Amino acid sequence: MDVTINSPIRTECRGDVLVVEIDNPPVNAGSWAVRKGLVDAVAILEARSDLLAGVIVGAGSTFVSGSDIREFNQPLTWPSMAQVIEAIRACSKPVVAAMHGFALGGGFELALGCDARIAVPGTQVGLPEVTLGILPAAGGTQRLPRCVGLARAMRMICTGERITAEQAGEAGLIDRVVEADLLHHAVELARAMRGKTRDLLDQPVPAEDDGAVAAAEQSALRAGKRRPAVLAAIASIRNAAGPDKLAGMTAERAFFDQLQQSGDAVALRYQFFAEREAVKLPPAVSVEPRPVRTMAVIGGGTMGGGIAISALDAGLEVLLLEQDAEALARGAERVRSHYQGRVAEGKVQERDAAARLAGLTATLDWNVLARADVIIEAVFEDLAVKQDVFRTIDAFARPGAVLATNTSYLDIDAIGAATRRPHDVLGLHFFSPANVMKLLEVVRGDRTAADVLATGMALGRRLRKTPVLCGNAFGFIGNRVFNAYRKQCEYMLEEGAWPEEVDQALEAFGFAMGPFSVADLAGLDIAWRMRKAQAAQRDPRERYVDILDQLCERGRLGRKTRAGYYLHEAGKPAGKTSDAEVRGIIERASARRGLKRRALSAEEIQRRALLAMVNEAALLMREGVASRASDIDVVLAQGYGFPRWAGGPVFWARQQDRAALQADLLRLGESCGYGFELGDVSSLET
Ligand code: NAI
Repeated sequence: MDVTINSPIRTECRGDVLVVEIDNPPVNAGSWAVRKGLVDAVAILEARSDLLAGVIVGAGSTFVSGSDIREFNQPLTWPSMAQVIEAIRACSKPVVAAMHGFALGGGFELALGCDARIAVPGTQVGLPEVTLGILPAAGGTQRLPRCVGLARAMRMICTGERITAEQAGEAGLIDRVVEADLLHHAVELARAMRGKTRDLLDQPVPAEDDGAVAAAEQSALRAGKRRPAVLAAIASIRNAAGPDKLAGMTAERAFFDQLQQSGDAVALRYQFFAEREAVKLPPAVSVEPRPVRTMAVIGGGTMGGGIAISALDAGLEVLLLEQDAEALARGAERVRSHYQGRVAEGKVQERDAAARLAGLTATLDWNVLARADVIIEAVFEDLAVKQDVFRTIDAFARPGAVLATNTSYLDIDAIGAATRRPHDVLGLHFFSPANVMKLLEVVRGDRTAADVLATGMALGRRLRKTPVLCGNAFGFIGNRVFNAYRKQCEYMLEEGAWPEEVDQALEAFGFAMGPFSVADLAGLDIAWRMRKAQAAQRDPRERYVDILDQLCERGRLGRKTRAGYYLHEAGKPAGKTSDAEVRGIIERASARRGLKRRALSAEEIQRRALLAMVNEAALLMREGVASRASDIDVVLAQGYGFPRWAGGPVFWARQQDRAALQADLLRLGESCGYGFELGDVSSLET
């Protein structure tokens, strides 16, 4: 191979075909050096008369998994990926993209800009730029629709959907899918083109039903919350159907330039890097994880069922245990019906579902625990019950097995103390539905061993989650911040806002759902039970809003009883106006506190809710519950519906004037009254 020193591009001649290999570990990101090397390689192909065609292939495990996002904050230096593709287009000889692993973002645009495409099965292709607040700007919005039509392009680009090579082949995006010998077949395909070039840009968008395009547009707008990147992507995709292809390309670039430094894009890039940081263990505990092949799940309820599915999807063997035959049958059925549903929806092939289910053993025989590498307990949220279960686990588990609890609030050390091996115990806090939600809080007890934590983090990644390390404190990271936020929202009810005003203000900010709609969905009784359990320890001088308790006492437990903060009548959309009974409860609560009710603007509601989260985040940093401030943003965005494009409370705090923010927090403290602890926002700086 010809190697230019330090270049991630290698070239080699296979007879009359130039093979251009991209070797930029770990994921072959399309960095400046890659782009420059590609332009040079295309120049070699053009210049040498003994060469008839070229093939671009990725070294290692993948083609090109995307652009180098670190470069997004710097001024663009020639050549951009669009300019690389322009060079391929201008080259008089055909170039074939040979893909395996991932061809995403700029990597897929590169492939779309080649004269032909070939891939091995399972290769994933897609244009996820919109999820970073930008749009594909190397012709992706112009070439993709010319192949798959406007409607499908909107779906793929606006949601960042990835499809497999097989699906891409059916859609005409890939010319050939070959089982093996990718490079050999790519070279043959390049030769078979007999020197003819072609560009997707030269073909017209296929004829489509206007109604289908409009429907795809509406659904993309809904799913993408009408964020600027989605609006731009739709407009750009529509340009592909226009008469002037070069104007479409120019407009795409202009959209990109507008979006690149927009608030959304900056926040989404921040989230992207924060997620990558969050999954890393701090150096002190960064050790080899213990191997995991078999997972036991104790308790097949809502969470246990979801955790089992998540593990089966990751190819683990799962042992499901329950307290009695009836609960066991229910738990196993929960898992089975999930897969039946996936097959019925066409999301999973029947044989894949069967293969996953074959990994499940549902049993009442605790002796099987001896086979488990990791055991996750998801029984009722009650310390005595959990300690009892852990004593039994301790009796049956093999030495070295990792013992985890999915508790939401309980003390990991108190649970670990029920065993003779607290160093093997940690918290693995999944979110509901556990097979869908990405967040996993990995909770470190006082005595948890480093390799047990490392195993928890590695297991989280294997289950395709975002594991975040947390200290063992009430509510860990997420529920601590969420409780502070919810409490602040309850104060605002007492001061004069109605539930729908609070919900609407926070939904307008970007939360998937306002706090009172969330409470109705989850059920108010969970919080009610906890409040009752904590009543004895509560300092009577603390400001305590009892609206939720009053609702529960009247049997208003949320959606499941058709009434909570709102009425949820059968057949009617969820209520968004509080009824007279709720308003009466709220007004009496204000009167008891001696508060004259006043109107709160949406802006005040949003700011106070954010300030409450920011303050709690600062406290979490002071207490060492979070190891990095940005971890808190990852938790909020992945587990609690905080809009990713707003970055998170820590990101928000960093954008504010420090002195004004600290002054606002002081004022917030005054409104909270006795017991308020003021955090130091300087702990939230990078
Ligand atoms: P659930 O009530 O749906 O399921 C609990 C299951 O545990 C039941 O099927 C029950 O039969 C079984 N069980 C009880 N005692 C047992 C024992 N001694 N041995 C074996 N099985 C036993 O409860 P859910 O919602 O799944 O919660 C489980 C745990 O997960 C709790 O600690 C909860 O706080 C936590 N969690 C719940 C979340 C949620 O949104 N539901 C979210 C995150 C954590």
